[in-house]
Parts: sequence; structure tokens; C-alpha cells
Amino acid sequence: MALASVTLELARSIDAKPIALMSRDQIEAGLEWKWRAPAIRAFILDPESSVLCARCSLGATEFLGGFGIMQFGSEVAHLNLLAVDPRVRRQGLGEQLLTWLETTAITAGLYRIDLEVRSNNRGARRFYEELGYKASRTIRGYYQGRESALKMHKKLRDRPNFSGAPRDN
Ligand SMILES: CC(C)(COP(=O)(O)OP(=O)(O)OC[C@H]1O[C@@H](n2cnc3c(N)ncnc32)[C@H](O)[C@@H]1OP(=O)(O)O)[C@@H](O)C(=O)NCCC(=O)NCCS
Repeated sequence: MALASVTLELARSIDAKPIALMSRDQIEAGLEWKWRAPAIRAFILDPESSVLCARCSLGATEFLGGFGIMQFGSEVAHLNLLAVDPRVRRQGLGEQLLTWLETTAITAGLYRIDLEVRSNNRGARRFYEELGYKASRTIRGYYQGRESALKMHKKLRDRPNFSGAPRDN
């Protein structure tokens, strides 16, 4: 399905439910649904986080094409969730969302972005590698004791005494 237009903008409270549903179906499938609307809404309201939406249109139809949630610390940002509607994948939407969030982290002066991805999610692993993320280690049972996660990171800039590699925590 070819997109007619895409607008990236910060989510509003009303977006919490569709984002949560997309997380349930596209990210958490097969796991217990953790990222429900109240949890998403808390991130929308959190000044230390950005919840970004891709609003898409196809003719007169508008829909949530994808979203990303990033939390900003004092040195490192963490990508909590990122998903694109299956109907509009491989059109650069995931890259647009992640680049926007990365730009925010760079502007905030942060040094690295961390994320976890389900180890068996080869498509997402490939996507992150394409965008410059490196795998650091696997954590067994990370997802509800049932599935392992691959930790990945991207160094944003150099800083004295900061290796850019994630600490073991
Ligand atoms: C991972 C995801 C966000 C990528 O979104 P997308 O909009 O399809 O990605 P893009 O179109 O921006 O892809 C950019 C590049 O990444 C790579 N890539 C993306 N998806 C890929 C896949 N399934 N397999 C291999 N490479 C892939 C390609 O190099 C692609 O460029 P190309 O299409 O020109 O070859 C999307 O597949 C998704 O929502 N997956 C389910 C949820 C998920 O796994 N989220 C990540 C963990 S939280």
C-alpha cells in the first residue's frame, strides 16, 4: 500500500489507545500485553520522553502509520518501543520515526541510544543494523521469563571517559 502523505508529530493523550493496540499486535504478540493505554499515556505526559506518531493518509483515510517512544536520561536515551503498521512497511517510515527521535537525543547532548529487541525478531534486528545500531549482548528470559532480548546500541558522539559501549546492567 503506497502512502499518500506522512506527518510526524508528538502524540496526544487520545493517541494512547491506538498506540497501545499497535504495540500489542506488532511488538508484544505472543507475550502478555504490558504496554496498555495508561502506560503509554504516562509516557505522553512525561517531559523526559517523546512519543512520536506518524499520521498517514491514503486518499481520504487517515490512520496511525507508526509510532516510537524514547526516554531521555542525562547521558543515554532508551528506545522503548517502535512499530510501523504492516500495510505501510518498507517505505522508510520506521527510519523517519527513528531519525526524528535520534535527532532529539543528539540535540539534547546525549551520547548513546540503547534498545532491546526480541532475539528472534530478525527483521527489526536488520532494520536497526541498517541504521547503525550494534548488538552488544543477549539477555535470556528478558521478556516475561520466556524470551531472550538482544541489547543494541548506537553511539551518538564522543566524550572523554565515555566509551559509548553500554555498561553491564
Ligand atoms: C522494524 C520496523 C519498525 C521497520 O519499519 P519500516 O518502516 O518497515 O522500516 P523502513 O522502511 O524504514 O526500513 C529501512 C531499512 O531497514 C531495513 N529493514 C527494515 N525492515 C526489514 C526487514 N523486515 N528485513 C530486513 N531488513 C529490513 C531495510 O534495509 C530497509 O531499507 P529498504 O526497505 O530500502 O531495504 C517494522 O518492521 C515493525 O514495526 N516491525 C514490528 C515491530 C518491531 O519489531 N519493532 C521493533 C522492536 S520494538
